[in-house]
Amino acid sequence: MEGIIHKIEEFVKDELGEDVTGHDYYHVDRVRKLALQIAKEENKGDLFIIEAAALLHDIADEKLNPTIEIGNYKLYSFLQSLSISSEQQQQIIKIISNISFQGGNEAELTSFEEKAVRDADRIDAMGAIGIARAFAYGGKNGQMIYDPTIEIRVNMTKEQYRNEKSTSIHHFYEKLLLLNKRLHTETAKRIAKERHNWLEMYLTQFLKEWNGEVENFNS
Ligand code: ADP
Ligand code: NI
Repeated sequence: MEGIIHKIEEFVKDELGEDVTGHDYYHVDRVRKLALQIAKEENKGDLFIIEAAALLHDIADEKLNPTIEIGNYKLYSFLQSLSISSEQQQQIIKIISNISFQGGNEAELTSFEEKAVRDADRIDAMGAIGIARAFAYGGKNGQMIYDPTIEIRVNMTKEQYRNEKSTSIHHFYEKLLLLNKRLHTETAKRIAKERHNWLEMYLTQFLKEWNGEVENFNS
């Protein structure tokens, strides 16, 4: 299986390379490592399926492809070129198709493999790295850093989540701060604690500066 993993790594490096929206190869590599760590600590799951799905999870993403069909075609044809069974291909596809947050309208998960990969992807959207990724994604998509006149959305459809005007700070309230309650595995919940705290600390400081509050240090 090592040869196959290497082939997948090379394919993903070629495809995502230096993406500037937070979906570059380093993101994929972190998700792979986190997903494997979750599986090892919980002593569950098919490690090959988890590693392959984690590496391939952003290849067909609708944000990174002209259409969903083109993205899926890219993923399916690559999977067919690997020497793995069609059952393994289906397992990988299922994990990837259920990974997305979709404005809170996410799929129910059944297998441990799905849970490990989705938890890993979510952990990488939290903490210091998650903050950097949110602003990178927002900038590239023409979104403002913050605009307090825009309302924070509580319930939204998948289309509203993707297409309505929002800001990167809004994204913290609309997704990032909700992630810790939506994790499945105990290992991910443990890792997420510190990262969730960082999100909260960052927002507190951001809003303090935004509101022009200054510390009164006696020099
Ligand atoms: P989703 O599950 O929402 O499709 P991804 O997991 O592909 O999103 O998101 C990739 C990265 O981009 C994450 O770090 C995510 O928080 C960030 N991101 C997605 N949508 C936005 C947005 N509207 N504003 C800022 N960051 C975003
Ligand atoms: Ni991802």
